[in-house]
Amino acid sequence: MCGIIGYVGKEQASPILIDGLKKLEYRGYDSSGIAVLDNGVISTVKSVGKIAALEAKTAGKAPSGTIGIGHTRWATHGKPSEINSHPHSSHDGRFAIVHNGIIENYAEIKAELTGLGYTFKSETDSETIAHLIQHLYCGDMVKTLTMLIKRLKGAYAVAILGTDSPNTLYAIRKDNPLIVGIGNNENFITSDITAALSRTHDFVRLNDGEIAMVSADEAKFFNSDGRPIKKTPAHYDIDARAAEKDGYDHFMLKEIYEQPHAIDMAVRTRIKNKLVHLDNVKFDKAYLEGLTKIDIVGCGSAYHAGIVGKTFIEKLCRIPVDCILASEYIYSDPIVDERTLTVVISQSGETADTVAALRLAKKLGSRTLAIVNVVNSTIAVDADDVLYTYAGPEIAVATTKGYTTQVGVLYLIGLEMARILGTVTEKRYAEIAGRLEQLHDKVAETLNNTTVNLAKKYADKYADKHCIFFIGRGADYAASLEAALKLKEISYIHAESYAAGELKHGTISLIEKSTLTIALTTQSALYHKMESNIKAVKAREGDVLAVASRTNSKINYCVDGMITIPECDDDLSPVLTAVVLQLFAYYVAKKRGCDIDKPRNLAKSVTVE
Ligand code: G6P
Repeated sequence: MCGIIGYVGKEQASPILIDGLKKLEYRGYDSSGIAVLDNGVISTVKSVGKIAALEAKTAGKAPSGTIGIGHTRWATHGKPSEINSHPHSSHDGRFAIVHNGIIENYAEIKAELTGLGYTFKSETDSETIAHLIQHLYCGDMVKTLTMLIKRLKGAYAVAILGTDSPNTLYAIRKDNPLIVGIGNNENFITSDITAALSRTHDFVRLNDGEIAMVSADEAKFFNSDGRPIKKTPAHYDIDARAAEKDGYDHFMLKEIYEQPHAIDMAVRTRIKNKLVHLDNVKFDKAYLEGLTKIDIVGCGSAYHAGIVGKTFIEKLCRIPVDCILASEYIYSDPIVDERTLTVVISQSGETADTVAALRLAKKLGSRTLAIVNVVNSTIAVDADDVLYTYAGPEIAVATTKGYTTQVGVLYLIGLEMARILGTVTEKRYAEIAGRLEQLHDKVAETLNNTTVNLAKKYADKYADKHCIFFIGRGADYAASLEAALKLKEISYIHAESYAAGELKHGTISLIEKSTLTIALTTQSALYHKMESNIKAVKAREGDVLAVASRTNSKINYCVDGMITIPECDDDLSPVLTAVVLQLFAYYVAKKRGCDIDKPRNLAKSVTVE
């Protein structure tokens, strides 16, 4: 949510900043801007809309200078407009800032500064920071920032450019990510390593309260009192092409096709000789037996992954599992103590609601286990234990490989806990472990031409619908929640998911001639129940598209279309149905001409509550 980039080096800053902003565009894309310092003057260019608009505006007349900051915005305070977009300047024009987060006490500071004669141009909370820096400035920027930190309440990552320090950028953070990239005679400040990955692989993550002072040849760090601290860069061995489309039309499609590899990394590499290895995460039997429940907490697709995990873990471990939306969890006075294991799921590792939930669970005495994709992100670092999903950078706003790898890791956790608890037979354990070891192959098989062509065919057929229902039972119901979200976020078709048995309790009133219902039909034990539910839809002249397992493909006799998934264990089918329905959502959105990688109003990394 909002992306920050800063550059200081020997080259022209503008093209590097714009290139960085393109990589950060998934964080927000309603407006953007850059500020570059040259000969004691800060020049700012801003534009409404995507980074392409900023690029067009600066073509041939980009501000010159070798130090600058840039920002891509996801509006919170004030509508998308040039005035509200960043960078914001101080009253005297000596400072420019870019901000990600929300300053909760901005109104109070704004009133104070207005009283002192400062004039505000925008409706944003962020502009307050620029004026406050001018107001607090004492000739020493680090000292000024220690004072600034004491005044700001809320969440922030801020990069600062000032005319008094023409060769140095400054940065501070609290509860929002900010990273310093260490290059060769050039350094970066960025919200995400992908923005600087083409120029360096060495990064230092700022922690809450820390200050960075970054020039072309060095980066110095200070704590919130202004005392120097030593921070060592970590080397990220990630191919810069991971942040490129690599020939695919969209990042989403590329990431759908990366799933066999991602699941191989997340799941198969953790199974050795048919035994699950959860890296450094150790559970002992007494601890697990003493648990009253497991809470799984996340937002969006991460929450949906949790629901699939709940179904699996409860079935195998016989421990009650609650799956809770992080934004609800934090204000619900949750019943949590040391006998609760809290599993926190987040692709980005930075989602504000999930960070807050993690901190609350810890405070209440729960052990916390994070399932995270972004290495060294806030959630990964703050949790007691972490299991990375190793899906690689995910750029499309709608998650695909992020989600399926989360589900894969939850399977591993459930299976391992069941082994320790003795709630799974050796035979069943070996069976599931063997199936998990092959899951990446099954995903590759799901991406075969026949399935892709069927997904396209049905997408073309149903792309003009205004509303699509998804139904399923058990693990299929859990999987259908994500399928509906995927479709609605990228195609803007209203989509809802229902437990198939629940349809008759209200929603069936919405089924009329040719309303489309997508029925997930992979659970053998529930086949006949699904068959009845499907028939109830057909009796109202609705259309039904089944996504069925091979065993259940006999359902074909009463549906309007069917896509089958490769033969797999019923408990693991949600990963395969997810892939089919990602393809369906993708092709529906494509047919409707939607901006697939950057759906309206959304941002990938939601760092505000
Ligand atoms: C945003 C994204 C979703 C994502 C959710 C949680 O809303 O658009 O795709 O599932 O945040 O993100 P996280 O990084 O915590 O998994």
